[in-house]
Amino acid sequence: MTDSRFHLGWFLNFTVDDWDGQWGDGGRDWSGETLVDVARQLDRSGFDFVLLEDKSMVADTYGGSFVAELKHAYHAPKLDPAPLVPLLARATERLGIIATLSTTFYPPYLLARLTATLDHLTRGRVGWNVVTSGEDRAAQNYGYERIPEHDLRYEKADEYVDLVQRLWESWDEDAVVLDRETRTYADGAKVRDIGFSGRFYASRGPLNTPPSPQRRPVIAQAGGSPKGRDLAAKYADVVVSPASTVDDMRAYRDDIRARAEALGRRPDDVKVLFLVSPTLGDTDAHARERAEARLRDPEFLERTLVGIADVTDIDFSRFDLDQPLPADLATHGEQGTLRAMLKGSEGKTLREIILGDSGRRKGDLVGTPATVADRLEEIHRAVGGDGFLIHAPGMRINRKYVIEVADGLVPELRRRGLVRDPVAEPPRPRLRDRLREF
Ligand SMILES: Cc1cc2nc3c(=O)[nH]c(=O)nc-3n(C[C@H](O)[C@H](O)[C@H](O)COP(=O)(O)O)c2cc1C
Repeated sequence: MTDSRFHLGWFLNFTVDDWDGQWGDGGRDWSGETLVDVARQLDRSGFDFVLLEDKSMVADTYGGSFVAELKHAYHAPKLDPAPLVPLLARATERLGIIATLSTTFYPPYLLARLTATLDHLTRGRVGWNVVTSGEDRAAQNYGYERIPEHDLRYEKADEYVDLVQRLWESWDEDAVVLDRETRTYADGAKVRDIGFSGRFYASRGPLNTPPSPQRRPVIAQAGGSPKGRDLAAKYADVVVSPASTVDDMRAYRDDIRARAEALGRRPDDVKVLFLVSPTLGDTDAHARERAEARLRDPEFLERTLVGIADVTDIDFSRFDLDQPLPADLATHGEQGTLRAMLKGSEGKTLREIILGDSGRRKGDLVGTPATVADRLEEIHRAVGGDGFLIHAPGMRINRKYVIEVADGLVPELRRRGLVRDPVAEPPRPRLRDRLREF
């Protein structure tokens, strides 16, 4: 019998919390304490992992200045997610922690060493979200004029991940022998140069870290374009997708699985999770009112457009809100995100696209925990997906929203047998093993 359970992840960024909302923290705490609390809640309720987003720039795409970006604090300011990983790990028992690190900006050796270190510090609960970064503004912080072109970024990333994996594997699993008789800590014959010399990268190796608990930290990826999907299918343990309709979700998952199989991988080893952001309420009407109130917020429209501008490098302030968008809109940034936004938008004005779709686009997840659990079950059964990656509306986290999901929605899912009961059936301690349990 196939296991009908699915996985749950949470998409977080190390940025300001819901500082001007009713239930936020006030926006002054940069110690990570809010996120530590959130991680504890998620761990307790059985979430498999948190995925920590990252960018390395203060964007000026929207309106050509930092004004809108910093007013809305969308992607900036933010702190580096890597040092947060051990903080979250120490506060939790089982939660996986996946940090985003860019192949365009990290030298591969540095990244291999950092992720192996984090895997030790978390005792095998770490993952790496492989991103190539799509923004010239970020590239310029590292001394490049422009970000490499979209498909070339993925070609480089392919070689990059291969190199990083070779570094991780440059020590045999049993290289640390701890032989007291010969007073030998590690056997030099079990550790070797990798002598990597590729089209884009070179590294002699070996890594100077001992083999980490997972040996190869979990790899996550979010590729919407054909090249992105290839990278995901080749390496990823977890793939996250912003697909906005059930048909797109199914097509995306089938495609990733087919690509993985063609590369000789077991499709079941590649978990495909869909990004969703439910709005919960005490009654369905209450939830609808909350969703609508969000849309009535005068800041919502601009804030959303700032966020999309950041990841597509398209200045949405140039377009008339009450006209349709140009038909030939293209990005060398996040193609999948732009496609998800434009899905079904023919003839609609920009205002209608943003305001009209935000409730419906992620499967109409508005209602009581029971209503939303029913809907997630329907989607899960129709798509055959492996789970969902939840984020707070507008990526503005507050503890109350997390509690609504962790203590409202998740128990409903559990009652339907759709998610793990972490008390009755504790997960395996290492993240990859845990993901492969079902
Ligand atoms: C859920 C999700 C999380 C992502 N997190 C990040 C991130 O933290 N940093 C980043 O630069 N890109 C991030 N991306 C962008 C992806 O890495 C990738 O560039 C994007 O999906 C576009 O890929 P495509 O051009 O193949 O469609 C994320 C995308 C998704 C859907």
